[in-house]
Amino acid sequence: MSAKKKGKNPAKTAVKEEKKIAAKLIPIYIMGKRYEVPEGLTIMKAMEYAGYVLIRGCGCRGGTCGACGTVYRKPGDYKLQVALACQKTVEPDMYMAQIPFFPANRAQYEFTELTSAPEEVFKLYPELFRCVACNACTKACPQGIEVMDAIAALKQGNIAEAARLSFDCIQCGLCTSRCFGELAQYHMFQLARRIYGAKILPRAEHLAEMVGTINEGRYDQILDELKHVKEDELKKLYQEREAEPMTAGEDWKPKDTRYL
Ligand code: SF4
Ligand code: SF4
Ligand code: FES
Repeated sequence: MSAKKKGKNPAKTAVKEEKKIAAKLIPIYIMGKRYEVPEGLTIMKAMEYAGYVLIRGCGCRGGTCGACGTVYRKPGDYKLQVALACQKTVEPDMYMAQIPFFPANRAQYEFTELTSAPEEVFKLYPELFRCVACNACTKACPQGIEVMDAIAALKQGNIAEAARLSFDCIQCGLCTSRCFGELAQYHMFQLARRIYGAKILPRAEHLAEMVGTINEGRYDQILDELKHVKEDELKKLYQEREAEPMTAGEDWKPKDTRYL
């Protein structure tokens, strides 16, 4: 054995110490079964640590897909709490269950045939008026959306307000799981945002212009050239492209304007 191997390496000892601290275990309960998991992990990582292989209930891992809805309670607390498993870190003695999907009525419609009239929503989702204003949906929303207010806006025919209030909805379905009136809030909100985006907001003129330019074939040549560039060269072109500075004004243009 070499002298090097015999001596203690302070850097390695520090790493070991760090791991020891990070590995402090806390008890949690998944579907009623007790596990000891390292504190500091998200619920999702703690489940994986405990041996779960997540096929459902795991998508983006970044708080945007809504696949990892979780409900939990702490001992001695009557309150049911909600969280996204990929965002929330574990706490000692959490009793939790995953709700990756919750069955909800989703209306069928041909979107191009809809108008922006509030009656369109009323016809497709008449259960909207079953809302009893209990606010359980708002309390269940991990995104902090004022769900009940958005539903109230829809009932009042204010599609724009419902779209605005529900902008951060990630379709997790937790509100629906708690709804007294059995509403599928998130499907209703999606419809509201679609109608708002396509039929209420004014059309962006610059976008229409750009689409026209593309259709006229302005970029066909460069796209064709790029299709034949080898992968390494393509990466180099991308990395060396002239990026718009953060502080650029509306009139900023790259030096090479051939393809504008
Ligand atoms: S509104 Fe409902 S579906 Fe949307 S994020 Fe909140 S709880 Fe989830
Ligand atoms: S949970 Fe259902 S009934 Fe209660 S306020 Fe929300 S939408 Fe209305
Ligand atoms: S995995 Fe997408 S929100 Fe959690």
